[in-house]
Amino acid sequence: MGSAPRVADRVQHFTESVIREMTRLNNLYDSINLSQGFPDFPAPAEIKEAAIKAIRDDINQYAVTWGAPNLRRNLAEKYRWFNGMDVDPDKHITVTCGATEAMISAMLATLNPGDKFIVLQPFYENYWPDGMISGAEPIFVSLHAPDFRWDEAEMRAAFARGARAIIINNPNNPTGRVFTRAELQFLAGLCIEYNALAFTDEIYEHILYDGRQHISLATLPGMADRTITISGFSKTYSVTGWRIGYCIATEEISKAIRKVHDFLTVGAPAPLQEAGAVALKFPRAYYDQLRVDYTRRRSLCLSALRDAGFAFEPVEGAYYVMTDFSNFGMDHDVEFAHYLVKEIGVASVPGSSFYMPPDLGRHQVRFCFCKRDETLIAAGERLTQLKRTR
Ligand SMILES: Cc1ncc(COP(=O)(O)O)c(C=O)c1O
Repeated sequence: MGSAPRVADRVQHFTESVIREMTRLNNLYDSINLSQGFPDFPAPAEIKEAAIKAIRDDINQYAVTWGAPNLRRNLAEKYRWFNGMDVDPDKHITVTCGATEAMISAMLATLNPGDKFIVLQPFYENYWPDGMISGAEPIFVSLHAPDFRWDEAEMRAAFARGARAIIINNPNNPTGRVFTRAELQFLAGLCIEYNALAFTDEIYEHILYDGRQHISLATLPGMADRTITISGFSKTYSVTGWRIGYCIATEEISKAIRKVHDFLTVGAPAPLQEAGAVALKFPRAYYDQLRVDYTRRRSLCLSALRDAGFAFEPVEGAYYVMTDFSNFGMDHDVEFAHYLVKEIGVASVPGSSFYMPPDLGRHQVRFCFCKRDETLIAAGERLTQLKRTR
């Protein structure tokens, strides 16, 4: 019998998530997990109660495929006061299984196989397989170390190569950058000049430091019609396992996204959408407190890393820090990350998983600090065992 191919070409070119692999190693070595970005502290009690109540009230069947009406209504209201966007809940919002599904649905709905899209690197690791799955071809534009800024000429050249879209993640994972209004205006200008779409992943929109304000790309002049704004509940409300996200786009683009979404997943979990609607009614003080808490976690984590001998740039937003570990006499990120998890007892993510070609990240590892104070303090104590070689 001939050996018929069992798997499709599109899955040949990417591996399983390195980040989830680090979580597996973390569990194997009983280490402290600063690799995968999920909180180890509880979600707000009000939304847990709301989820339980929704199940008790028998909200247990399919919701409207593109999202429960009250969730979309409350999203539109929050987008008005927080993001400054005028969103029609019936026409512009599609609720999805996390921002993850929002991104792949949006790409499948708007890009044809062979279309080019720009990805800033280091990148959030999903964007590369998202391109593979949708058949679109990435053009990588570097955020140059040490301060993770793009070169304007390189960005323009990428658009000039015929990019139909750009993915931008702001606040940024893994660099911690929050792009300035001037940087976003520059990008917007290129999107307009080259008639390109922007997928903007704003999942960390509420996790900002030192008084920074979030700017939604869609609010810049000329961008509302060409931006697909993606976000979700995972990070803002500490519920990464609930899988509730959404995207906001024009009516025409939303119709296309809703078709893909309907046949991919039908819909996000109905009772958890009810709880999401409750979360959106939290007072502004909730978001202020979130910033206060993350500022404290950032300082616990960064001071431990600095004392241990890691080099890194200021973190402006999100809850990650990309570090250079050259001070420890090792020069291979995977080897170093494995040493850290096995011998020191702290899990990180090898830098190579954020770059193409991967070797660009060989001197870096990423840590996350969405953890309880005790977890961060314990990780800091373990890191003091690292020996500097210079
Ligand atoms: C930039 C970015 N986008 C999306 C996600 C995933 O979001 P969700 O849980 O809503 O799928 C993450 C999770 O780490 C992320 O860092």
